[in-house]
Amino acid sequence: MAAAAPAGRCIEIGTSAGYSTLWLALACRAVGRKITTCEILDEKAELARQTFGAAGVCDVVEFVHGDALDHLAGCKDIAFCFLDAEKEIYERCYEALVPGIVQGGILVADNAINLQATLRPMLERALQDARVDALIVPIGKGELVCRKR
Ligand SMILES: C[S@@+](CC[C@H](N)C(=O)[O-])C[C@H]1O[C@@H](n2cnc3c(N)ncnc32)[C@H](O)[C@@H]1O
Repeated sequence: MAAAAPAGRCIEIGTSAGYSTLWLALACRAVGRKITTCEILDEKAELARQTFGAAGVCDVVEFVHGDALDHLAGCKDIAFCFLDAEKEIYERCYEALVPGIVQGGILVADNAINLQATLRPMLERALQDARVDALIVPIGKGELVCRKR
């Protein structure tokens, strides 16, 4: 999906040690794009840097060490976002992200089924949000997929 998204920025919120970023980086590299990924914890940030160095993906990964919420305000031209941070900040991330997503741009949020109870307010908001077409895809832990209208 990162590769098929319209022109614009590709973002990941919640890097951890960088596993999902590696897949996104492969997709981005295949189509000449870059992925910006954000991690708040010092120890995870260090692991992620090691991962990206060892995997040789530093040319397509822009790593941001800090609170994603500090970087999302006013963020524009978002073509693709993978949201996989602490579930308590999903709703704030969603509200910060959606205005900056380009038409046809895609937001994927992980854990939409296995943590459905925790995420219910955010999921209901997205599924009823007139700015996006949204559905929950029953693969893995459940992916909320939103496409900006
Ligand atoms: C589920 S893990 C991410 C897993 C990773 N996406 C993967 O699949 O390999 C969630 C990560 O989000 C980070 N996180 C939590 N709140 C954050 C915030 N406000 N800004 C940036 N990262 C955050 C956590 O420290 C944690 O490493």
